[in-house]
Amino acid sequence: MDYDVIILGAGAGGYKAAVHLLKNKKRVLMIEKEKFGGECLNYGCIPSKALIEMSESIYYLKNMPGISMEYKIDMKAWQDWKNSMVARITGNAERQCKSLGADILYGFGTLKDKNTVNVNGKDYTAENIIIDTGSSPARIPGIDNVYYNREILGIDHIPESIAIIGGGYIGVEIGTAMAKLGSDVYIIEAKERILPEVSSELSNAVDKKLRSIGVKIMTSSKVISVSKDKYYTVKTENDEIKSEMVLMSVGRIPNTKNIGLENLKIEMDGRFIKTDEHRRTNVKNIYAIGDVTTGPMLAHKAFYDAYIASENILGNDVIIDYKAMPYVIYTDPEISFTGSVSNNSKKIMTSAVPRALTMNEGDGFFRIYYNDDGTVTGAAIAAPRSSEIITEISLAVESYLNINDLLLTIHPHPTIAEGIHDDFEN
Ligand code: NAI
Repeated sequence: MDYDVIILGAGAGGYKAAVHLLKNKKRVLMIEKEKFGGECLNYGCIPSKALIEMSESIYYLKNMPGISMEYKIDMKAWQDWKNSMVARITGNAERQCKSLGADILYGFGTLKDKNTVNVNGKDYTAENIIIDTGSSPARIPGIDNVYYNREILGIDHIPESIAIIGGGYIGVEIGTAMAKLGSDVYIIEAKERILPEVSSELSNAVDKKLRSIGVKIMTSSKVISVSKDKYYTVKTENDEIKSEMVLMSVGRIPNTKNIGLENLKIEMDGRFIKTDEHRRTNVKNIYAIGDVTTGPMLAHKAFYDAYIASENILGNDVIIDYKAMPYVIYTDPEISFTGSVSNNSKKIMTSAVPRALTMNEGDGFFRIYYNDDGTVTGAAIAAPRSSEIITEISLAVESYLNINDLLLTIHPHPTIAEGIHDDFEN
């Protein structure tokens, strides 16, 4: 065999798997059809957070009592900076894999048999294969020529108006940022509320704030057609919106077509690759991780899957356990949740956390869930930088900590994390 492991896709999961395997002396070939780092680093998590940071900084100062300011956004200069920042991250990741000894091939890889992948007309063999081919935006048939995550993060100016189809993760994050950057934002969501996949308590906090900053939210609303002249015209059953840009964010589809899965009769779960708890497919030496497998389409889930699959390849019997999977939506208030809900919970309002008030922020809440015996099961947090503190609860869930352990842990003052630890109000 040419290699111990071939990794199909050098995205978040593929990269993590490669590093773990290389550090354990495995010979690794990585195959990538586009850019090292995949969707998250190049076109998703990283550039979107950069845009959101810019919008928050502007909004923060504009709303600070006593501050008046004028500002100008040069998106071309911002794009240059963003592209170089992304290139720095992806370049570091690629260099790390190379310096650890990986071979990296650019081209579209196809599985030929259980040990062989064909790239650019040549066959490469390995004892094990990891599939990490990611996902692509879902499209609505008949609606073309709109923006998706890649295009919207590559814009050369802030649109005066934008209609966003789909009020899920991407729609709400980009909608919040654009509203703070001065666009007229319309969010059109088919279900009865935005962020239908999160608790109504969290999504209501976001809905309220977004409306207060002028976002027009249209729920239970399906788009019938989109046409483009000078402006886009978006028609729903009851409304017609004219906007300069249209973002389509109605979910993502796993990239499982044309990669040769059928050659190997790999079992599927709809469009996802079916795996066991080792992230192993029905073909024992082939693993699948990240967005092509069931579970949330999150980069940190792909990282975790990568570790599980690699450990199994290294001969260690490790299984997935998502019980403390953190979720973050970078909107306003920033919302995070982890673990599971239970009958008991304690809640404190963000407005009771002094550090939040120093930031002129008081929207949101901290809700910690725990069992009858006090064991922490999860949390839902809507507060500034909740992404930075949710891990404390994930650790508590992983470690079966008691709610009193959180209360007895000394938290620095003043911090947002005090919302986890402070005396609770029911
Ligand atoms: P999503 O699944 O989060 O949201 C799609 C939304 O579109 C849903 O609320 C759905 O009801 C709605 N929808 C579907 N068809 C529609 C239609 N015809 N008209 C109006 N609404 C319609 O998908 P999204 O936002 O595209 O994001 C894709 C994935 O990317 C997410 O599942 C998430 O896992 C990941 N992501 C994660 C982020 C994070 O962790 N902060 C940020 C951005 C994306």
